[in-house]
Amino acid sequence: MARLVVVSNRVGVPESGARAGGLEVSIRPALRRRGGIWFGWSGRVSDRDPEPAKTVERDSVAYVTMGLRKDDYEEFYNGFANRVLWPILHYRLDLAEFSRRDLGGYFRVNEFFARNLETLLKPDDVIWVHDYHLIPLAKALRERGHKNRIGFFIHIPCPPPEVLTALPNHERLIPALGHYDLVGFQTETDANNFSRYLTNECALKRIDDDRFAFDDRTVRIGVFPVGVETEAFARLARRAMESSFVREVLGSLSGRIMMIGVDRLDYTKGIPERMNAFERFLAIFPEWHGNVTYLQITPRSRTDIPEYGDLGRLVGEAVGRINGAYGEASWTPVRYINKAHSRTALAGLYRAARVGLVTPLRDGMNLVAKEYAAAQNADDPGVLVLSRFAGAARECTAALLVNPYDPEGVAIAINRALAMPLEERRQRHAAIFKVLAQNDLSHWAERFLQALEHPQAAGNAPVARRAAGQR
Ligand code: F6P
Repeated sequence: MARLVVVSNRVGVPESGARAGGLEVSIRPALRRRGGIWFGWSGRVSDRDPEPAKTVERDSVAYVTMGLRKDDYEEFYNGFANRVLWPILHYRLDLAEFSRRDLGGYFRVNEFFARNLETLLKPDDVIWVHDYHLIPLAKALRERGHKNRIGFFIHIPCPPPEVLTALPNHERLIPALGHYDLVGFQTETDANNFSRYLTNECALKRIDDDRFAFDDRTVRIGVFPVGVETEAFARLARRAMESSFVREVLGSLSGRIMMIGVDRLDYTKGIPERMNAFERFLAIFPEWHGNVTYLQITPRSRTDIPEYGDLGRLVGEAVGRINGAYGEASWTPVRYINKAHSRTALAGLYRAARVGLVTPLRDGMNLVAKEYAAAQNADDPGVLVLSRFAGAARECTAALLVNPYDPEGVAIAINRALAMPLEERRQRHAAIFKVLAQNDLSHWAERFLQALEHPQAAGNAPVARRAAGQR
């Protein structure tokens, strides 16, 4: 079997502390199973020369990370990746702040990745690149003569060409994806949007359902909805219920029902909108006053970007307003926490919560939704209230699907979830769990790598058709 080299901006180096990103959660177990290299940024920034590459070996994986210079970090990470690509790919044209300097920094850092990566590469390595930070990486490697099989998976949405073309210089950037052998998306909608872009904007010839001709090569497009370690997470949640941390939290509720939300502090997650919905819920359904506690765990993220600081203030104000208006000396409606929690702690809290609120305005997949469902006790499960704009909604069709832009609709769904009879809760949970057990994390990684390494294998084409469980 060829050696696997995974490349992403963030690298989940073991023992480097709790982090909040879905990408690390998905790659780590997949890579551990097969072994290989995980290459990317160390998370460190220096004023002068960047810290040289460092390797940490654990089990069969070598984690190779390098530092970034301050101007690279500003222009590549804070600038083009997170102030232009992130909002635009999440359909938020209003928040994009483009500058030519940041675009230059983005290409420069991709070159820097290619230059450092090639010192590790062997000709038959299979390279799997992740996410929007590294769109031009295959092109940079091809220009250096590398002919390896290279796949790209984007964890976040791909908007329709009508939105994507608002990205200044899109014609320099997006077609660079043609240098990959396989480009994978979370949902059919994302894959179709990209296919439409290639057809309308690049006039690429479509060879069949899932392949386009690109110069003298072929690029394949596929749908690979990322999963979670369903069975292992369920076991973790069962065990975590016995932990002193979860017992303490449950004890502090004094018998009240708990609802939970867990999100990075990011405007795509719809946290202020969710707070408004919870406020509406308290206004419309006073019978729940004093009987339900909403725990919102929200680690801060990308704190150097002004929109993220503004969001922190907005959410803090909303929490204060709700608790001020509805709280009692003996009851706090919303508990709002910015601290990151371990996976074990979260698994236990998910299992202890009667309702999981996952209402992003737009999300590639949202693994919190899947982990919440996986963590439930099948005999007495909680209810997932899920935004229709999360990729997870395509598979979790038995959740209560809501429109996060409709606070009253979300309020009504919260009431329905809290009041749902046991039999209906069991049925909905069993339906979701079945899909999550079929398309778990290892299935996702195997399907992607199979399609990348053996494109002609029987039963392996076309990948662009509906993926398991997707509507
Ligand atoms: O896929 C979304 C993503 O950008 C991942 O790359 C990352 O794991 C997560 O969000 C957290 O973001 P950041 O790496 O900017 O902290």
